[in-house]
Amino acid sequence: MPKGAVNIAIIGTGVIGAGWATHFLAHGFAVTAMDPGAGAESRLRDWIDNCWPVVERLGLANGASRDKLTFTTDVRAAVRNADFIQESGPERLDVKHSLIASIESAARADAIIASSSSGLAISEIQAGAKHPERIVLGHPFNPSHIIPLVEVGGGRLTSPENLARTMAFYSSTGKKVIRINKEVKGHIANRLQVALWQEAISLVQRGVASVEDVDAAISYGPGLRWALLGPFLNLHASGGAGGIRHVLQHLGAAQREWARDLGTYPETDDYIESIAKGVDTELQSYDFPEMLHQRDQLLIQLLEAKRNLSQIP
Ligand SMILES: NC(=O)c1ccc[n+]([C@@H]2O[C@H](COP(=O)([O-])OP(=O)(O)OC[C@H]3O[C@@H](n4cnc5c(N)ncnc54)[C@H](O)[C@@H]3O)[C@@H](O)[C@H]2O)c1
Repeated sequence: MPKGAVNIAIIGTGVIGAGWATHFLAHGFAVTAMDPGAGAESRLRDWIDNCWPVVERLGLANGASRDKLTFTTDVRAAVRNADFIQESGPERLDVKHSLIASIESAARADAIIASSSSGLAISEIQAGAKHPERIVLGHPFNPSHIIPLVEVGGGRLTSPENLARTMAFYSSTGKKVIRINKEVKGHIANRLQVALWQEAISLVQRGVASVEDVDAAISYGPGLRWALLGPFLNLHASGGAGGIRHVLQHLGAAQREWARDLGTYPETDDYIESIAKGVDTELQSYDFPEMLHQRDQLLIQLLEAKRNLSQIP
């Protein structure tokens, strides 16, 4: 990535593209955003205006300004001068292929193309590309202007140099970057989430607990620790002086038994209504938009607090 002025192109400005646009503007970059949807430009500008106080609080880089946003409906115009292209279009392989072809028809050959795709493999996305070696995964988490994690990985044809450039670039913008060494469906964090959702659904379906109590089991229990240390370090802490070796020797056999008893993901959609009714019941005495607003406020406080603690990874 060139030092100094880096031009960013955001392709697709839905939930994720808008978050990326806000993130890169907050870090002082010039951003050209592209989306063919009706009313996309005003939606994006409103979205950025709404999120700006949050990114201001998290800390703006020198030169950060919403005035550095340009909008176009033409993908070629969006990428012509770009050094880094964040693709966040619809999650369909045919759409990704046609977007990559349009991007490559105008972009510089060395511009990185990072796809936000939640589930498609980069090896599939880069098939047929002129310069597949610069196509990488850059998978963020919603709200992507707040959550630091980005999962970076390559496909069969991505070059190690471009993976390293991408990781260094995201890190330079304050993102917490992790490297996916091997392509797997759903990448890493969503696989971990789905393992939990699978068992959460199963516990409700088996009548073990209500939706509300399963939520509380995480949000008032291990979830509080997981935002600070990951599952392995928390396990290490559970072992006292003996650490993870002791706890796995001590409890590993029991955990293996519990693991054998875990539910599987439902094969049909019958479970949806009962889980959704449980969520409706849980939300009866809350205002959900306000709940999300308060969640984001707490997230910001947590991120600020974490920054000041040298021994929290
Ligand atoms: N929503 C999430 O939580 C989440 C999280 C991480 C990654 N992602 C990934 O990010 C990508 C975007 O998801 P989203 O949730 O923002 O979807 P979205 O539906 O909110 O936004 C998609 C946007 O793409 C636009 N679009 C349609 N055709 C296009 C084209 N030809 N060129 C450019 N833009 C086009 C649409 O107008 C829309 O604004 C997907 O690949 C998804 O898997 C989503």
